[in-house]
Amino acid sequence: MSAPLRTGLALVLGLIWFFSCGICASVPGCRLQIPPHEEVARVARFVAHLCDWASLATVSSREPVVGQPFSNLFSISDGPTAQSSGTPYLYLTPMEISVKDLQVSPVSSMSMSLAQTDYCRDSGYDPQSPLCAHIILSGSVLPVNGSEADFAKKALFSRHPEMMDWPLDHGWFFAKFNITLVWVLDYFGGVKTVSPDEYFQASPEQNRKYWP
Ligand SMILES: *[C@@H]1O[C@H](CO)[C@@H](O)[C@H](O)[C@H]1NC(C)=O
Ligand SMILES: *[C@@H]1O[C@H](CO)[C@@H](O)[C@H](O)[C@H]1NC(C)=O
Repeated sequence: MSAPLRTGLALVLGLIWFFSCGICASVPGCRLQIPPHEEVARVARFVAHLCDWASLATVSSREPVVGQPFSNLFSISDGPTAQSSGTPYLYLTPMEISVKDLQVSPVSSMSMSLAQTDYCRDSGYDPQSPLCAHIILSGSVLPVNGSEADFAKKALFSRHPEMMDWPLDHGWFFAKFNITLVWVLDYFGGVKTVSPDEYFQASPEQNRKYWP
């Protein structure tokens, strides 16, 4: 093969690698791709890994809304970038208003949307459109300890470095959203559900090429 041909081939292969292996976020015009709609569990894992924050609804324990849903925002991470565990971890303090609800009842619901990524913006999808994939988790928020807390720390501090400087006297602890059911709103045809088993079995490796 002649030298210019080899150089040309290397360039083309390099470009293919560049666009298929991500780094999409830094490339103008490169769009984030979503896994196939019919692979619902993979779509759910895709959304859960890309989201840095989520809305968490608890059952309020505070007057005058005791017993009513109370939705609040939290920074989350299911693992360092490209190390998805599927479990959203949280960094919480007992001083926080929703955490007071969780101490009374840990039952809660968490929602995450690709509206927080460039995917919906670049495609022109309204956040409420089913094309702008979003998921709702049912379950409860539970504290974690031991090696799971070590992973939660790595997951959260790598994606939310400011957390390292949050005041030590606030009693921060690591927690997870313990999933009992996953609801997926992606594409048309109504909501689809995924069991925790299906969700955790959906290989994050298969999603790797879609992540930025
Ligand atoms: C971690 O928490 C579980 C359940 O709350 C408990 O059974 C276990 O003893 C704890 N482990 C450590 C190392 O604290
Ligand atoms: C945590 O979730 C699992 C399903 O993934 C469920 O079987 C278990 O009961 C949940 N634990 C609590 C304490 O809610």
